[in-house]
This record gives sequence, structure tokens and C-alpha cells, in this order.
Amino acid sequence: MSGPVITVEKLCKEYRSGVRLKKIRAVVNATFSVGGGEIFGFVGPNGAGKTTTIRALLGLIRPTSGTITVLGDPVPSQAARMRLGFLPESPYFYDYLSARELLDLVGSLFGLGRAERRKRAGELLEKVGLGQSADRPMRKYSKGMLQRAGLAQALMNDPELVILDEPMSGLDPVGRKEVRDLMVALRDAGKTVFFSTHILPDVEAICDRIAIISHGTVHDVGPVSQILQATLLGTDVVLWVPEGRSLDGLVPKAARVRQADKEICVSLPRDADVEAFLKAACDLAKVVSVTPRRESLEDVFVKMAAVPHVRSQPHPMGKIPGEERRKTG
Ligand SMILES: Nc1ncnc2c1ncn2[C@@H]1O[C@H](COP(=O)(O)OP(=O)(O)O)[C@@H](O)[C@H]1O
Ligand SMILES: [Mg+2]
Repeated sequence: MSGPVITVEKLCKEYRSGVRLKKIRAVVNATFSVGGGEIFGFVGPNGAGKTTTIRALLGLIRPTSGTITVLGDPVPSQAARMRLGFLPESPYFYDYLSARELLDLVGSLFGLGRAERRKRAGELLEKVGLGQSADRPMRKYSKGMLQRAGLAQALMNDPELVILDEPMSGLDPVGRKEVRDLMVALRDAGKTVFFSTHILPDVEAICDRIAIISHGTVHDVGPVSQILQATLLGTDVVLWVPEGRSLDGLVPKAARVRQADKEICVSLPRDADVEAFLKAACDLAKVVSVTPRRESLEDVFVKMAAVPHVRSQPHPMGKIPGEERRKTG
């Protein structure tokens, strides 16, 4: 479809919890959208508000305020539900069923005929690597096998949009890679994949765009590279300096200099005039490399996941949406 597949605007969700019905702001003013045919990572630490947002996307909980559309329809929409697949965070299946029986059940809920259910279940079980154990009761499955069964059931209706809540959690590196490959294959087949995670290497490996959420607030939305672009720390210039020459007077005061034999690495600060420095350096030395120094996604993530009072200091990536509300709350 043209246009965004998911739009979330100013989503807020408050829970009341405990005997005193203390207010918990699980999601605060979250705004983002997901385009058709992309893998979108919803990235944040535990307790950030990922599952709450996903439950709101699916119409399983009612937002305190804000608007959501999925596949062009305002949530909740039965028509949209029929066109999407969902893997919950900790899927619970009737464990006396086999994976094949689970898929058959899900297929009949979607109104598929018997022959089609059988065909699709067989294909999907092979695809997720459960072909050999498809007829064993799921109580005998490992966590990884249950996760695969969950993925397969999410695909039973051949959905246009797949929403996966922490699909890699509990999987070993091989299992994670298989799930990643499956998600990429879905995108290549033209589907939209929205998944939540706190596992950063997976994000960098497959996401087209991401939103980072912590303490209920969506901090930034965009391509991973663009989010990291905003976090330039400086530039490292490595120079080869012939004997008898010196860089004295050339290196800005704020730069750090390290020397290894004839090579000198000058770490220029973020605001340095790199071009001017390089021009001047070229007359004296040979430029070996110029490398921008950036924060890693991990750095960004850890900073955003920090406790709220640390976070309320000015953030290097600009103003954090919803911050004023949090301070007064
Ligand atoms: N049903 C609920 N009642 C009260 N608080 C909840 C409920 N569900 C989630 N929360 C709280 O909302 C916050 C966000 O939770 P959640 O959306 O599950 O985060 P995530 O999926 O990112 O780990 C947490 O502080 C959590 O304790
Ligand atoms: Mg969760």
C-alpha cells in the first residue's frame, strides 16, 4: 500500500497500579510512522513502553490519548487485524498441541480452508526450521522452538504487516540469525516488519529505520545511520610525518595527539575546521586516513536508557519530545 502502514500520533498510556492506584506513564506522547515494505525496529530497554505501544497498535488496550492507524484504518479495526500477523512477547500456547495443530487452529481462525491450512502450515514449519518436530507436543519444545512456532503462527494468514514483540529474545546467536534472515525475507517479499527489541546488533544488522524509546518517550526516529550521524564526536586524522618536520602550531589546542613511530593520530574535536587542518597538514605530512569518530548505537542507547534525572539534562541529539511534561509530572 502507498502511504504509511502504521502511524502513531501523540500516543499516551497511563496505568493505575497498586492499592493507591499510583499513576504509571507507560507511554508519553509517542509519535512515529512506519512505511510500507520496511523493517522498523522499536528499540528500548526493559520497561521502556514497547509492549504497551504494541498492544495499543493491535487494539488490545485503549490508549489514554493519541491516535493510531494500522494499514490505513484507525485502531481498532477488524479488517486491519485480518491483514496483520502478531507474535507476542511471551507467547503462551496450549502446550498439548503440536506446532502443526497450532497453525491449523490459527488458520481456521482466519477462515482458511482445510487444504490451504495444511499447505501453509507445512511450508511455514519448514521455513522456521520446525519441520522435524512439527508433530511433537509443544510442551516438549525449547524456548527457541516455541519462538519459531510463534513466528510461524504469525505468518499463517500471509500478512502484509508483521508485528513482533521481542522476536529474538531467548534465542542463541544461531537462532537470532535465522529469525533475522526470516524478517529480511519477509521484507524482500514486500511485507512490512515492525519489531521491538533491546538487542542492538540485530538492529544494526537489519533495520531500515528505528525509533528509540525509553521511559515511555520516543526519542528519535529515523535510519540508524542518520541517528548515529547526529552523534559525531570529532574526527581522527592520521598523518605520516617525515623526519625533521613537526606539526607544531598546526594542531588545535583542543585536539588530542597520539604518536606511533612516524604516524601521528590527531583527534580533532567536533567543532574543528577539519578541511583547514587537512589543507595545512598536506604541506607538511602525508594524510594516511580521516575517520569521523561517532557514538555507537550502544552509547546512544545507554544514554537514553539512563535514569530520568540524568536524561533531563540537554541531550546531544536535541530536545527530547515530551520532556516538559515529564519534569512537571
Ligand atoms: N498492565 C499494567 N499495569 C500497570 N503497569 C504496567 C502494565 N503493563 C506495563 N506496565 C508498566 O508500564 C511500563 C512499560 O512497560 P512495557 O510496555 O511492558 O515495557 P517494555 O515492553 O518496553 O519492556 C513499565 O513500567 C511497566 O511496569
Ligand atoms: Mg515488552
